[in-house]
Amino acid sequence: MRLAASILAADFGRLGEEIRKVEEVVDFLHLDVMDGHFVPNLTFGPPVANALRKHTRLPLEIHLMIDQPARYGPQFHVTPEDVITFHVEVAHPEEVLRTLRQLPCRVGLSLRPRTPLGALEPFLDRIDLVLVMSVEPGFGGQTFLPQAAERVRMLRAMIGDRPVAIAVDGGIGPGNVRAVVEAGAEIIVAGSAIFEKPDPRAAALELWKAAGHTKSS
Ligand code: DX5
Ligand code: ZN
Repeated sequence: MRLAASILAADFGRLGEEIRKVEEVVDFLHLDVMDGHFVPNLTFGPPVANALRKHTRLPLEIHLMIDQPARYGPQFHVTPEDVITFHVEVAHPEEVLRTLRQLPCRVGLSLRPRTPLGALEPFLDRIDLVLVMSVEPGFGGQTFLPQAAERVRMLRAMIGDRPVAIAVDGGIGPGNVRAVVEAGAEIIVAGSAIFEKPDPRAAALELWKAAGHTKSS
């Protein structure tokens, strides 16, 4: 298992400080980029992500919940350790993938809770990660949709031995993290379960413990 901390639930006025609290106990920073069109919420874009890139050694997982990932994706300053993830529901995902594949980073595909898993099939040979949404994208702090665990199991079978990692995003906390990992998720994204707790570092460690794993295992 690897743990990604979503900064959506962090204090945006003190992002550097918030990140330092969890830097030793998570594997990725998960950045939720929203455009107010693809999802009914607005967050931040390349300027904020690029500023953070310089202030952390953690790889970034850039989750693009935007209508035009091909237009804005190339504006993120990425390294080979980073992942840029876009949604399969956008217009012309083939073209988007071709564009993002030219960036010096890994590329992931995400899908909304009700999008059939079959939508991923044409892309599985050309992506590095699938980000399974376990809430409707748009907001942190929502309740985990339990059917996500079964979707992870089915996706695992679809992927077979291809080198595609499965990440799960939304509503994950100590009460359900183990079930998600046991279903086959390798990367766990957590926002409010980390940053809305008084001690984000301790909260991240609690997630590791609840999952039955230790960092870098
Ligand atoms: C939702 C975002 C998630 C969110 C997770 O659209 O993609 O990454 O930050 O937050 P929690 O863990 O609070 O559900
Ligand atoms: Zn996300």
